[in-house]
Amino acid sequence: MTPDVASTAAPFTLRELRWSDLESLRETYYLLYDERETNPEIGITLFATRPSPADEVAWFAQLYRAVLAGDAVCVVADVDGRSVGSCTVRRAAPTAESEGAHVAELGILVHRDYRGHGVGRALLARALRECEGRFETVFLRVFSVNVRARRLYEEFGFVRTGTLPREIRRGNRYFDAEIMFKHLVAAPNR
Ligand SMILES: CC(C)(COP(=O)(O)OP(=O)(O)OC[C@H]1O[C@@H](n2cnc3c(N)ncnc32)[C@H](O)[C@@H]1OP(=O)(O)O)[C@@H](O)C(=O)NCCC(=O)NCCS
Repeated sequence: MTPDVASTAAPFTLRELRWSDLESLRETYYLLYDERETNPEIGITLFATRPSPADEVAWFAQLYRAVLAGDAVCVVADVDGRSVGSCTVRRAAPTAESEGAHVAELGILVHRDYRGHGVGRALLARALRECEGRFETVFLRVFSVNVRARRLYEEFGFVRTGTLPREIRRGNRYFDAEIMFKHLVAAPNR
């Protein structure tokens, strides 16, 4: 583990994804479905109902494979061996041979009990650093109403390039999404 610790109420370290992270990542993700009940504006696109544990295993296996294949960067915030947050930057194109292989999409999620303590900022900083030399452009989608997250991305140099109106339909309510991007140092040999 790296001593990349921010000053926070919950000391954490940053590390790469491990196969054993499945359970804690799934717990953090499942909690979003409870959060949505009390906070209909929770800023992550979800399914109508929780995916099954089997779906989660399939999702995790795909992510892990992408990391091993060099198609994704995934940084985990660790407290006592468990993930309390993760930031994934994943090649948008299906293979490294694609003409779009230099572009990747970023996603970030911190466990609800650990938000507001610098975990997200630390994850972003590390993930973007690890993307250098691998991807040239990183983009993301963020709910337009998620003003705090948007501010955080701007702090890291993400620029808003447009709005996708009504991108998310949650029950009978629509949410717009902002598309934001950041150019990194050009990857070698491309
Ligand atoms: C957005 C998120 C990843 C930020 O991580 P975090 O660990 O809470 O953020 P940090 O503690 O590092 O704070 C960084 C900044 O993010 C902002 N922020 C965004 N969402 C926040 C939240 N729910 N709670 C606290 N701070 C939040 C803060 O304003 C903070 O800025 P400040 O230090 O100038 O006050 C995290 O809150 C989260 O997972 N939220 C729910 C899912 C989500 O919205 N993901 C983004 C999808 S695009």
